[in-house]
Amino acid sequence: MTSFSGFDLEPRVLSAVADAGYKTPTPIQAETIPHALKGRDVLGIAQTGTGKTASFALPIISALINGRARARMPRSLILCPTRELAAQVADTLDIYARYADHLSRALLIGGVRFEGQDQLIDKGVDILIATPGRLLDHFERGRLLLTGVQIMVVDEADRMLDMGFIPDIEKIFRLTPFTRQTLFFSATMAPEIERVTDEFLQNPARIEVAPRATTSENTAQSVCTFKAGRKTRAAKEKRIVLRNLIAGQGEGLTNGIVFCNRKSDVDIVAKSLKVHGFDAKPIHGDLDQSHRTRVLDEFRQGQVKLLVASDVAARGLDIPNVSHIFNYDVPNNVENYVHRIGRTGRAGRAGSAFTICLSPADDAAFAAVEELINLRISRIELPDTAKEEISRLDDSRKGTKGDRKTKPRSARTKPETPKSKDRDTGSRPPRSQTRQASRKPAPDPGERATVLGMGQHMPEFMKKPFGPNRASVQSGQEP
Ligand SMILES: Nc1ncnc2c1ncn2[C@@H]1O[C@H](COP(=O)(O)OP(=O)(O)OP(=O)(O)O)[C@@H](O)[C@H]1O
Ligand SMILES: [Mg+2]
Repeated sequence: MTSFSGFDLEPRVLSAVADAGYKTPTPIQAETIPHALKGRDVLGIAQTGTGKTASFALPIISALINGRARARMPRSLILCPTRELAAQVADTLDIYARYADHLSRALLIGGVRFEGQDQLIDKGVDILIATPGRLLDHFERGRLLLTGVQIMVVDEADRMLDMGFIPDIEKIFRLTPFTRQTLFFSATMAPEIERVTDEFLQNPARIEVAPRATTSENTAQSVCTFKAGRKTRAAKEKRIVLRNLIAGQGEGLTNGIVFCNRKSDVDIVAKSLKVHGFDAKPIHGDLDQSHRTRVLDEFRQGQVKLLVASDVAARGLDIPNVSHIFNYDVPNNVENYVHRIGRTGRAGRAGSAFTICLSPADDAAFAAVEELINLRISRIELPDTAKEEISRLDDSRKGTKGDRKTKPRSARTKPETPKSKDRDTGSRPPRSQTRQASRKPAPDPGERATVLGMGQHMPEFMKKPFGPNRASVQSGQEP
């Protein structure tokens, strides 16, 4: 399919797509939209940043545009794993439904008051976008019936079918009619999770535009492996490495996300970066929702340069000007590597992703990542500036208290806080061991013939403005 007009989409949807500046459908759109429009179940797998949202949103709007919802009985349901992603999908729907005047949508996410959500449900909602927990809360309060759901979407389907979410998902599915149409999308799908999809999908069209867990070709990936001088100082040295990797990117870094595995580390790393003069703010699930929303908005609008995040920001978020991803930790879940680094290099843009490996356990975890994505990632040397900073830590130790082999017990048990003691003091030559590496240069997307997952047309599209998201790169505004 070379143009959207070749699909059987409602004319008002086609107009909105044209306004968005989309010239040609991406491969996942080309392959899934016709099936979805015919009412078939779909399991769609395509790389991050290749337009899966429109793959389900356009057929839904087209199918529902002429009907009306009854009070408390939504006609369609889109489930997302995080509040931020649900809010983004709702905003994206508004773009595609801009000429669908009578179509209503509501966002049901946790962390905000029920009242406003209740009022919307009472009026009747055509498209409900929700996180599972809040959706069930509304149901259990007797405010919502799911028996009118004709189309149901599970975005980030593999995440939604994993251990934490599956009981809620099963419950929600049982509340919807058996005759509903179901669409599942993700960039990854582990075989053991795919087996579970059979429980929810009926004879689905299985579309994989690239082998699952394929990372974007236009993101240059590297891994920096080093061995901390002392176990007790590992976290401090890791932060030195992170700071120097970030600083080494210079002007090329427009916006970056630093991912940590633990929420406590998100806070520590964000504070440490701030203390050292970087413009960084934390986001994770323990923060108040209004704070999370504000920080993400600031980051989207370019008012904050570095977002330090837990995996709450790993999936689905579409922020066009993210140029760099830094994995402060190798993700605990291998699939999340694909999603984390998928926050850059979207829609054919270039991106860079760095991962820090500190221990043999990290090396093993990263080897599992490489196996999943079927790619050997370039090893890079520890930046010289980082080596110097780490060696200064040793110098100051020798100069002050002598080179003690271990820290006092109090220092070993207390977590390091990024206050003034996180600053550099120190002197022994670095004991870090780095593997020699050939750094893969960032590909010049303009020179490539194809961009995996975006089809032949993308280099052309990259040169042109293409609607609200592209405009937002220039103006700092997001849809
Ligand atoms: N046909 C198209 N032409 C040009 N740009 C497009 C097209 N379809 C979508 N886009 C843009 O591509 C970007 C990525 O889309 P989207 O967020 O839907 O990706 P995704 O596949 O869902 O990624 P992820 O796996 O990270 O969730 C968005 O900014 C969107 O506006
Ligand atoms: Mg998505």
